[in-house]
Amino acid sequence: MKFKTIFEPFKIKSVEPIIMSSEEERSLFLEEANFNPFQLHSKDILIDFLTDSGTSAMSSKQWSAIMDGDEAYAGSKSWLKMEEEVKDLTGFEYILPTHQGRAGERILYGYLGGKGKIFISNTHFDTTRANIEFSGAEAIDIPIAESAEPMLSHPFKGNMDTDKLKELLKKYGSKKIGAVIMTVTNNSGGGQPVSMKNAIEVSNLCKKFNVKFFLDCCRIAENSYFIKTREPGYINLSYRNIAKEMFALCDGCVMSAKKDGLVNMGGFLALKDKELADACTNLLIITEGFVTYGGLSGRDMEAIALGLREVFDEDYLKYRIRSTEYLGEMLYKMGVPLIWPIGGHAVYIDARSFYPHIPVDKYPGQALVCELYIKGGIRSVEIGSVMFGKYDKKGNLIPAPNELVRLAIPRRVYTQSHIEYVIEVFKILIENKRDVKGFVITEESEFLRHFTAKFKHAE
Ligand code: F0G
Repeated sequence: MKFKTIFEPFKIKSVEPIIMSSEEERSLFLEEANFNPFQLHSKDILIDFLTDSGTSAMSSKQWSAIMDGDEAYAGSKSWLKMEEEVKDLTGFEYILPTHQGRAGERILYGYLGGKGKIFISNTHFDTTRANIEFSGAEAIDIPIAESAEPMLSHPFKGNMDTDKLKELLKKYGSKKIGAVIMTVTNNSGGGQPVSMKNAIEVSNLCKKFNVKFFLDCCRIAENSYFIKTREPGYINLSYRNIAKEMFALCDGCVMSAKKDGLVNMGGFLALKDKELADACTNLLIITEGFVTYGGLSGRDMEAIALGLREVFDEDYLKYRIRSTEYLGEMLYKMGVPLIWPIGGHAVYIDARSFYPHIPVDKYPGQALVCELYIKGGIRSVEIGSVMFGKYDKKGNLIPAPNELVRLAIPRRVYTQSHIEYVIEVFKILIENKRDVKGFVITEESEFLRHFTAKFKHAE
């Protein structure tokens, strides 16, 4: 289309009201939530950018398929549909349904992991790392060096450093290495894509060293968009065929269908090797459910089968990526420091540069998250020292490498007007930058403190 307007390629059939609120009301809500947006009620939020996971709007086709869900314990026809769709997309023979991504991670990496084992990734997502470490194994991240510089432009900033990979493969060998995992797109690294060239190199190295190679493929369609538009030689391939080409390089994949599956719940594990699939199936039955439903109801499986097809629609993907990119570009033009280029599912703001007067131990990311809520009713998430900070023996904060705030955009949920509104809110935030103060933590838990921590304004 030659028009500049970002056109949502859908009409709205059912609406969910957003309850408008004033700045005063929101200040109160936030105080009641101890300045932690995880503790807010979603009814008090205007735009929820907390996550793109499980927050998609389903299509009318998915909703009608839900009525057709077959809830049989064994041999459900909805399972057969989902299995066929996943097989066709991934090319893998053995498909295990799971209730979400981390259930597949626990099964696969729990089985391949254990004390003394090593896993290598461009960047392990938190739950992936947690499942690996919980098994007693070690998780090593080797993103390319460019990924450490937020503003440095690179078309595939999610790539894995293949020189480092070679060194690690040589050092540890196939006995010690549980698997190499490529996360596409690289969520923790800013939603940045991985090139096919990089995936091919990693696959070849894994084959050479006889090490298993898996995809964490929850944003595989978005990654395919970047390959088609940025990598030479892919412009004439369909997004789906690009994804298929990437799956063909691997031994299997773990998917949280809550992202590019366009559903609110679901996932799967897909494997090439029968022996490994048999071992994982045993674990699946013990904790997730029988092989023809995993942790899913029949209606969920119907929705996944369709979502996996709809997500590769050309007009949808164009709208999806353009809309995220537009928000990032506008903020960038306004001087908001952010991870560049803009990734697929989210805009990541560098809160340390946005509020240079707030020291890291007063959590500039938390300050931005709170301002976004008070001024605009926008919920976002801090990915900085609140989430990843640790303490030394004296109780001083060991800060996270970056103080980021993620605006993750749910799929097919918000319109361009909502995006324009968010941009307007940022204009207000820029004007009021100097008045904003940091926070101190008044109460926190030992693990995953960001979910429940309580805060108060710093002096
Ligand atoms: N892998 C990646 C790359 C993810 O982003 C997530 C979830 C998972 C695995 C786990 O999937 O939630 O279905 O168990 N990411 C969400 C987020 C939570 O907000 O980025 P899950």
